Amino acid sequence: MASIEEALMVVDGFKLKIPKEVYKPSDDTFLLLKNLRVSKGEKVLEVGCGCGILALKAAKKAEKVVATDLNPIAVLAAKENVKLNRLTRKVEVREGDLFKPIRKNEKFDLIIFNPPYLPTTKKNKVEGWIEKAWDGGPTGRKIIDRFLAEAKTFLKKGGRILMVQSTLSNVEKTIKKLSRKGFQVNILDKKEFDFETLVCFEAEKVE
Ligand SMILES: C[S@@+](CC[C@H](N)C(=O)[O-])C[C@H]1O[C@@H](n2cnc3c(N)ncnc32)[C@H](O)[C@@H]1O
Repeated sequence: MASIEEALMVVDGFKLKIPKEVYKPSDDTFLLLKNLRVSKGEKVLEVGCGCGILALKAAKKAEKVVATDLNPIAVLAAKENVKLNRLTRKVEVREGDLFKPIRKNEKFDLIIFNPPYLPTTKKNKVEGWIEKAWDGGPTGRKIIDRFLAEAKTFLKKGGRILMVQSTLSNVEKTIKKLSRKGFQVNILDKKEFDFETLVCFEAEKVE
């Protein structure tokens, strides 16, 4: 009988089952976890939830969390992890591309996104869903730019975007785009490596 390869992790007190085709919480996830601030009663959206760790953490304070992912295996894993951590009352997991699973009249106080941000070429393509976790196309911005074009519509006034991105995919460009769209951007944290720096920032919708 074929077995589904699955890792078990405990992150920040949350038990997580993570199938092979789902992104394992890594440095970018941990940078977001460290900088995640949610106030009581807030409504939170996580786009690209993977195994669901950030949505689970947000649900400790939020009134409601909607978590989405394009990868159907991630959606199943996140649903299972929500049950495992007894947060079904607060977290709803939906499958789909970026904001497609969100109704036009749904507005959030906070949108969290750890996007696929690595520049990729045909040569370094990998088969399967897991590639969606890091494949940012030739410039690394394929998904980031689509996200930035739509995110504002789903935020309440004063709402925030919490994001992490690598310097390999032009963080300045993201910040410029957000500023032009009426966001005030604050860099919250950084983690440096030999080949890249991960930058965690929050953008508040002021206009
Ligand atoms: C870097 S992983 C982050 C996973 C998790 N949020 C974390 O921080 O550990 C990026 C996630 O975004 C998902 N994703 C990629 N493109 C997407 C899209 N167009 N719409 C929704 N989710 C997407 C991937 O399947 C993956 O689960």
